[in-house]
Amino acid sequence: MTILTIAGSPSLSSRSSILLRHAADRLLQRGYASHELGLRDLPAEDLIEGIYTGSAATALRTRVAKARAVLIATPVYKASFSGGLKALLDLLDERALADKLVLPIATGGSTAHLLALEYSLKPVLSALGARHILAGVYATETQVTRNAQGVVEIDHGVVARLEDSVDRVARYLDTARPAHTEAYDLGKLAARARLSV
Ligand SMILES: Cc1cc2nc3c(=O)[nH]c(=O)nc-3n(C[C@H](O)[C@H](O)[C@H](O)COP(=O)(O)O)c2cc1C
Repeated sequence: MTILTIAGSPSLSSRSSILLRHAADRLLQRGYASHELGLRDLPAEDLIEGIYTGSAATALRTRVAKARAVLIATPVYKASFSGGLKALLDLLDERALADKLVLPIATGGSTAHLLALEYSLKPVLSALGARHILAGVYATETQVTRNAQGVVEIDHGVVARLEDSVDRVARYLDTARPAHTEAYDLGKLAARARLSV
């Protein structure tokens, strides 16, 4: 079962990416490995020029198509999600997120744009066909820091909200697995029944 995490910050010391990786670690503890995709995985000119037919965009669409769940992290830039993330999402097909569970994650300078995920990112996710979008996890930059030794420190409340959301993703994937197996078995039974007629 594929899980894709998309890091939408251009920053090399990205706080939103720290939250994304914490979410990925938590998913791993629950038995689900994930793959991270960042803005730097695509050539800058493909993003800026929106080169839909390029090999990078094609590979991106393949990776998204294979994913059962997609975790998307972004910084808040000018009261919205990052332009880099928008450029990446613009390379997807219209229904690219249909039938996928999506968890949005964001960090901002303050709580002033706490609702940015709701009014800016979620409509775009909906336009990409997403119908299962979990409540976003938002943190301010003072809640995701590095101490003098460079060790990452995340506010306990943020960790609790993030892990709660990730556990929802894992539960969704847990239930999706047996349901799929059952459907497969029913299909096999039906095929056998037809053969024996
Ligand atoms: C160009 C730019 C614009 C920003 N605009 C906002 C904003 O409108 N609202 C806000 O709360 N924070 C804003 N910030 C602060 C970032 O959201 C914040 O530092 C965030 O933690 C960055 O996430 P990152 O480390 O993952 O890139 C802005 C930062 C930059 C560089």
